[in-house]
Order: sequence, then C-alpha cells, then structure tokens
Amino acid sequence: MIQKYVYGKPFPTDAVTTEVPLGKGTPVYGNIETEKGFCFTYILKDEDIVYGLGETNRGLNKRGYCYVSDCSDDPEHTEDKVSLYGAHNFLVVAGTVSFGLFFDYPSTLTFDIGYTRIDTLQVSCEEADLNLFVIDGDSPYDIVKQFRKIIGKSYIPPKFAFGFGQSRWGYKTKGDFRKVADGHRQNKVPLDMIYMDIDYMQDYKDFTVNQENFPDFSDFVQEMKAQNIRLIPIIDAGVKVEDGYPIYEEGVKNNYFCQREDGSNFVAAVWPGDTHFPDVLNKEARTWFGDQYRFLTEQGIEGFWNDMNEPAIFYSQEGMAEFREFIKDFLEEKAVTATDILITKLKDLARGHDDYRRFYHKIDGKKIRHDKVHNLFGYNMTRAAGEAFERIDPNKRFLMFSRSSYIGMHRYGGIWTGDNMSWWSHILLNLKMMPSLNMCGFLYVGADLGGFGSNTTRELLLRWLALGIFTPLMRNHSAMGTREQECYQFENIEDFRHVIGVRYRLVPYLYSEYMKAALNDDLYFKPLAFVYPKDSMAAQVEDQMIIGNEIMIAPVYTQNARGRYVYLPEEMQFVKFLPDGTISVEILEKGHHYVEIALNEIPLFIRSEKCIPVAEAAECVDDLDTAHMAMLGYDHAEYVLYDDDGMSKEYEKSENYRTLRKE
Ligand code: GLC
Repeated sequence: MIQKYVYGKPFPTDAVTTEVPLGKGTPVYGNIETEKGFCFTYILKDEDIVYGLGETNRGLNKRGYCYVSDCSDDPEHTEDKVSLYGAHNFLVVAGTVSFGLFFDYPSTLTFDIGYTRIDTLQVSCEEADLNLFVIDGDSPYDIVKQFRKIIGKSYIPPKFAFGFGQSRWGYKTKGDFRKVADGHRQNKVPLDMIYMDIDYMQDYKDFTVNQENFPDFSDFVQEMKAQNIRLIPIIDAGVKVEDGYPIYEEGVKNNYFCQREDGSNFVAAVWPGDTHFPDVLNKEARTWFGDQYRFLTEQGIEGFWNDMNEPAIFYSQEGMAEFREFIKDFLEEKAVTATDILITKLKDLARGHDDYRRFYHKIDGKKIRHDKVHNLFGYNMTRAAGEAFERIDPNKRFLMFSRSSYIGMHRYGGIWTGDNMSWWSHILLNLKMMPSLNMCGFLYVGADLGGFGSNTTRELLLRWLALGIFTPLMRNHSAMGTREQECYQFENIEDFRHVIGVRYRLVPYLYSEYMKAALNDDLYFKPLAFVYPKDSMAAQVEDQMIIGNEIMIAPVYTQNARGRYVYLPEEMQFVKFLPDGTISVEILEKGHHYVEIALNEIPLFIRSEKCIPVAEAAECVDDLDTAHMAMLGYDHAEYVLYDDDGMSKEYEKSENYRTLRKE
C-alpha cells in the first residue's frame, strides 16, 4: 500500500506518474516537523538495514553515514563525499518493521542515516514543500517493486547498447576513431559503439560537428556502421555564447535560456567558454532543445550521452569577480593567504552553490530560482531528448544516458556514474551502487570501466571489465592525460578478446533479464537479501549480487588476488569461462568458499535448479546467433528467454518469449 502526504506547496517534479491516494493525518512511521523547514525522524532498531538512495557513496546498506541530494560535478569520489551527480530520494528501512519513503523534493535534501546519532534516521530540507510517499509491503523487495510501479516504466535502450563500447576524452579526428575501430576488429575484440567526447564538436558547440575533421560526417557515420559500429556523441548542457551560432541566437531570441533576476541571460563558463543554459524546465524551451538532436539523428546517429548537466559551472562572471576581489591583496603581496585557502576558494567557484541562486527558470509564467529546483536539471535535459526521440520516430529506441539525474529521468534514459578513478575501491563502489540505482528505476547503468581519472593498470582494467560484463552499460572510458586504456594498449590482447567475448556470449541472457526487469518494474541487480530473505548471512553480503533471476556474481576487486571468498545462500554451480573457450563447472554447497579466479577467467554462479543460455561470441550484438545456444546450469531446468528485434518498441508480442531447456 502506498500513501501520499503533501506538505506545503510541492513543486511538480513529474517523478511519480500514477495517482496515489492521500494518507490521513501523519505517516505511521517516524515523526515529522515542519516548523523550521522539514524534518522526518525515525528511530532505527539495531537490526534495521537501510536500502536505496541510488547514486550515492559507500555501502549497499546506507546506515552509518550522511548523504546529501545535491547534484554535483565532483570528480573525486572519495569516501567522505556526501553528494555525487544524482538525486535519488527513495529509501527502504528493512527490519522487523519495513517501509519505503520517497521524498519528492527538487532541492537540497539531507539523509542523516545514523551519522549524528547511531540509531537515528533523519531526513531534512530547508523548505517544507514536498510530497512524501510512504510504502508498506511484505518485504523490502516488495516495497521496491511497488515504488517502481508508481514512477513509470524504466527506459529501454536498443539491443546494440548491450554490446561493448570504447570511449576516451581526446578522440578527435576520423583517424582517431578508425584506430579504435581497427584496434578492436583486427584484434577480434568485440565492439558495438565508439563514443565521441567533446572534441568532435566545432569549438565545443552543441549540435555542431568539426568541419575540418568531419567535412562529410554522415558518410563517416555510415563508414562505421558498415563495420557494425555506432558512433555515440556527447551533448553538454551549456550552449556556447557566440554570434552567428544559430542555436545561441534562437535561444536568445525566444528567451529559451535561464536568466538572471534582471532578465539578462545567465552566463556560465564551461568547456566552450561562456555558455547559456537552456531552460529545460520550461516546456517550450525543452521542446526546442530536444529538437536540436535531429541535427545528429538525421546524419544517422542513434545514441547520445548527456553531460555537464548538474549543471556544471566552472565559474560565473559574478563568481570570478568575487574571486578577483578575494585574491587582490594576495596578488599585490599585501596579505599572506594559505595556499589551501586559495585552492578551496578556487574550487568553490566551480561548486556552483552561489551561482545556483543567480539564475531562474520560467515555469508556467512564474520565475523560479534555480537552487529551488536544482536537482531537476539533468533529468529535464534528458527528458528533452527523450521527448524529442518520440517525435522523431515513435517506434524506434535511441541509446541515451546522462550524468546528472533525478527519479523520473529513469523513463527517458540510463546513467553512467561519472568521473570515477582507476582505483580498486571504485570497482567495489560501482558494484554496490548498481542495485541501489535499480531500486530508484535506473536500469541502464554502468561506470567508466578501467577508471576515468588517474592511470589504470592491465590488471585493474581486466578485473573491472569482469564486473562490467554484467552491467547493462559496458563502456571503457578515460580522461585526457591519463594512460591510454583501450584493450589493445596492453600485452596479451587475447585475454581482453576472451573477457569481452564472454559478455557477448551472455548478451542473450543479460538482455532477456534486463527486458523482464524493465517490463515488470523489477530489479536487474538484486542484493542477496532480496532473493534469500530468510538468510541472515545473505543480508550481510555487499560484494556479491544476483543478476536477473538465475545467476550470482562475485567480482574480484583486490590487486594481486588470485581468487576470493564467496558466500552461497544455497547450492550453486560455480562456472568459469576459461581463456581457451571452454567452461568449467563445479557444484558448490551452501556456505562459505574460497574460489580461485585467474585474471583471464570469468566466474559466475548458477542458482539451484536454474539454467541460462550461452551463445557463441560475435564481433557485435547484431551477429549473435540466438537460434543455436548452449544451455548452462542444472539438468532439466527451464529458462524463459525474452528476445525481440532490438530496435522497435514492440515488446509485448508473445513470440518475444520462448522456453529453453537444459537436457
Ligand atoms: C566530464 C565527463 C567525462 C568527459 C569530460 C569531457 O568530465 O564526466 O566523461 O570525458 O567531461 O567531456
């Protein structure tokens, strides 16, 4: 059962798509104060676990720290960080009493989950204007499924998006892209997508292509497609301020950009230099911005990634003026200022907090200051694209994922988890975030494999890819200036061919499970506790996950490890895809085990009495032969495979399902 409680005058975020009955009085759980802002307090019992919060730091169980919903462009995801790029305000308290809460509030919201006081969950925000949804259910899993039902169906990408994608900030010319294509095709490493970062644009202008490097862009798109490779360009939030640039001029003419209080267009410096932000919260401006994607779809592009949409601001004119004032005495050597203070001040310039109070959205004729609705920007930029794709071709799926997001955006695209680092701890963070994101509706998710910032190693990349095999979005991406990390940069390319090949062998199963999760408001990544609710040990495990309904994964995330400990909540088949193309199978009893996993082996566990289909590897998703697949798992088990044309939206056809059997 779900009930909605309304406080003050909530901003309509459109996160929830169904009518929810109003609760009477106050929610049965916790205590609510609305005198000074809004504050929800609940006393946690010792055994309570808190799930949810989507893209947040630390564990799967969110207890013991503090998290702030405040979409931030912060590339250093160290343990102390409380805000990342998304704002996903849904959590579940799971214990003897279990319930779910969704705080539909578009500005800064703080979740203190046993941080200030070990037993106290406190959720607070500055203004008591929000909708609170309270969900009762039989179990945390049931609560999550009910929540998913009220927020609408999750985004479904085209099937090719389950292939492997290669990306790097710095690919510029046709030669750069051809090198990536050849590096994979010649070495027989499967590949479906090459991502185009900001350098494909003319001077970082959205919806332009560098004329010198791509005088015939659509031909180049076709050249790649002829090799079964799709180019996936990036789109940034800020529109460059430049006379003669049609998008800038149209936006100015029609008042489609966010404005200062005095009605002038707000200027933020991002990659192109000075930019204006499209007012994507305004329906008319959103439609206009969305229609710009046509420039690329008309040239054969079928997928995009939306970036810098917190929105990220390097500095504003106002911020820079303040900073200049601040350092004046220091530069004139009239005052001593500690370097650390200078650095903090400089970083503050890009944190945007003061800037977010300097511009406005125009919504239904009313001006709303950005900071009041800050967490909705990335959501609405991606919605602009999603709504436009419906107009462009209502029966076609486009690949779309975003950096910043809010619940509701899960209907229009997926997300990648932003600028991580080539750190072992970030493999684990990647893994723990996945089920939490699924709970909030985001199913098409993944991290920059190999790590975005800092230098990767061959071992780190291989171990991370071994996790990436199971994330719907599987992309190797890295920052300019870091060690090059395409597979072919390392010795023994056959290991990469094998590891990525296993992804393709599993695509029929992974796609089928993704589709079932999307069509039934279910989870693709499940915590063990959701599948084995009576097993108290399972509730403690955060570094193993259930994928779909049939398999469990237990990635290695430690340098120099030759294997790892795993916990099996039931008997399972321990399967390893070996580098010679064969598969080893061993039955392991319920309980704790140490399993050996070499760097070039891919392990997975098949649950009791279940089986999965396994295809032969192929160079791209289109070439997978799903008519002739082997079955792996328990004898006489059956598996219902979902498959479709991968491009249209005809999901409900009965011929999309077929039952396979392991003899
Ligand atoms: C941001 C993105 C990153 C991208 C870079 C350049 O840092 O998060 O993925 O490579 O901008 O566009």
